[in-house]
Amino acid sequence: MNRKMNCLSPSILSADFSKLGEQVRELDEAGAQYVHIDVMDGMFVPSISFGMPVIRSIRACSDRIFDVHLMIEEPGRYIDDFAEAGADLITVHAESCKHLDRTVEAIKQKGILAGVALNPATPLSAVEYILPRVDMVLIMTVNPGFGGQKLIPYTLQKVRDLKRMIDAENLKIDIEVDGGITLENVTEAMDAGANIIVAGSAVFQGDIAENTRMFLDILKS
Ligand code: DX5
Ligand code: ZN
Repeated sequence: MNRKMNCLSPSILSADFSKLGEQVRELDEAGAQYVHIDVMDGMFVPSISFGMPVIRSIRACSDRIFDVHLMIEEPGRYIDDFAEAGADLITVHAESCKHLDRTVEAIKQKGILAGVALNPATPLSAVEYILPRVDMVLIMTVNPGFGGQKLIPYTLQKVRDLKRMIDAENLKIDIEVDGGITLENVTEAMDAGANIIVAGSAVFQGDIAENTRMFLDILKS
């Protein structure tokens, strides 16, 4: 059985950018193990978020795992830049890489963790052969592009199927879920097999430290 520690990865897409450093510190002090950093290019997804300079400047605010989710076309062009900006884990979308194997290898070459993300409608077969080479698979539980959307229920079946695939091959790979995760549905996502939980609006709306602690309590139980 692939039993890994449950970790929280708050998505700073929902942060107040006028206080970004302060809020990243607050997540760290409240105990969140990862910081989820959503990079969007206005091509792969409709929206544009931020890039390397922002990551570089918040690197000084936290030693937690910087979990960089690249929602950009051909992310292979920027692996060196994101690794140098301070990423500990880079996740690329299978749908955005012409040569996924080459891009995953480029991430591993930087000595950091490599993840592959799948949009809701993308089948698991897109990662089947590369599974032994990756550290994490990110199952998008909404269509990527925006925070604050509702989880698409069938994506949890995909998490269950992926967990079965990973266990059948006796691999040690993290499963991350991203999009529409709340205090109400996080247990269902963990029961399906996810162990890295991204939450944006559910962490940043209201009291950040309190929301983080409430998530962590559920993740520990
Ligand atoms: C969506 C992003 C998510 C998003 C999650 O494209 O990848 O990380 O910020 O936000 P919530 O938790 O509000 O759905
Ligand atoms: Zn994300």
